[in-house]
Amino acid sequence: MKIATQAIHVGQEPDPTTGATVPPIYATSTFTQEAPGKHKGYEYARGTNPTRDALARCLAALEGGAAGMSFASGLAATNALVCSLCRPGDSVVAFSDMYGGTYRLLERIFRPWGLEVRYCDDTRPDAIAGLVDDTTRIVWIETPTNPMLRLLDIAAVSQAVRAKAARTGTRPISRRGGSPMDHDFGMVLVVDNTFASPALQQPISLGADVVVHSTTKYLGGHSDVVGGAIVTAKAETMAPIKFFHNAAGGVSGPFDCFLTHRGVKTLAVRMKAHCENAMHVARWAASQRGFQKVIYPGLETHPDHELARRQMAGFGGMVTVVLPTFDQASRFMAATCVFSCAESLGGVESLVNHPAVMTHASIPKEVRERIGITDGLVRLSVGIEDKDDLVADLEQALRKECVWQVPKRQRVGPEWGAWASGPRRGGCGTWECSRGRLRYVA
Ligand SMILES: Cc1ncc(COP(=O)(O)O)c(C=O)c1O
Repeated sequence: MKIATQAIHVGQEPDPTTGATVPPIYATSTFTQEAPGKHKGYEYARGTNPTRDALARCLAALEGGAAGMSFASGLAATNALVCSLCRPGDSVVAFSDMYGGTYRLLERIFRPWGLEVRYCDDTRPDAIAGLVDDTTRIVWIETPTNPMLRLLDIAAVSQAVRAKAARTGTRPISRRGGSPMDHDFGMVLVVDNTFASPALQQPISLGADVVVHSTTKYLGGHSDVVGGAIVTAKAETMAPIKFFHNAAGGVSGPFDCFLTHRGVKTLAVRMKAHCENAMHVARWAASQRGFQKVIYPGLETHPDHELARRQMAGFGGMVTVVLPTFDQASRFMAATCVFSCAESLGGVESLVNHPAVMTHASIPKEVRERIGITDGLVRLSVGIEDKDDLVADLEQALRKECVWQVPKRQRVGPEWGAWASGPRRGGCGTWECSRGRLRYVA
């Protein structure tokens, strides 16, 4: 079955008791047993719940994995993964351009806990593999990355890090505590597939061991629910994660799972529309002088364009633009009407986000700037509204912003009368003062 069909049917079999075409939401915290230990496979809803299981089965199918699990958020999923697969003294190797919350989790929770984290700024597979040693349990990559939209070659990274891990071996867990989380998996390659979604890219088919999602984004798709998921290539990799899920909690509730699953059903059509609109926005933005830089994997100028063509079924719905300064970025964002200034991404509605102040504020400024997240950088989550409305909205916001690029001394007097002397070129076009009001000419 293809993804569009799986998204609608897996985990959505008609309810056996009533025939309901859409299975009910199992809003229950517990399950009545005929006698102690005699039950229908469900005991207590932190461990398992049919609505959650249905979603997890669907996500596993979409990613082409053997097992899936749903969590309360994307970070709850990442937390469960690291806790289940790592011990203090182990190391994680990560590509440095990543969601700020993942960086904060690694740096502020897991580093003090005893995990070593090594970051790679270089997209070349050998550079990432170069950081792998016998303590490495997880190699963590996002692709496309957030917010710089760099791409990593999943198949090549998988090969390179596996070859390195085979040479170095993996140090066995030193203190075995008789826990189901004591395992000898060695190193696993984890791909955060939130930005692409399985509709555009299936990392397991390219050699990843584990896929992580913030289902809050494209999978849920409507900005109305927070959730996370893990899908593993092999069922045994999920065993310690499943144990942790029940033992530590962080599970998703049945209403959230229902909403996410409902959103997933339209993933294939939504992603097509996101990609089409993002390409339209990116092409328009690339033609504007008001932006210093436009980053979109679908543009031929993008350094990873060829890889994107090969690895992805579409270029995604995220576009990053760079304005010269923080003030300009901030005024541009405040002036948009269809794009809401908000964190998050992947919903049907368009959002505009300032990573340095919003989603990536937890990354220290010097690290942010090394990655390229400058104060003028703005991330657009292009929704599925009419593409002409989206461009018109960005255009009017950019024009308003351009007005401020006019030297202050020329913005004097009521209605900026000093401008009446004739057309002037602003940062993104020509403006003139007509009847005391500024007007965009071309
Ligand atoms: C790429 C990526 N991964 C993980 C997360 C964390 O997900 P959540 O916010 O659902 O915890 C986010 C959140 O923005 C994200 O963008």
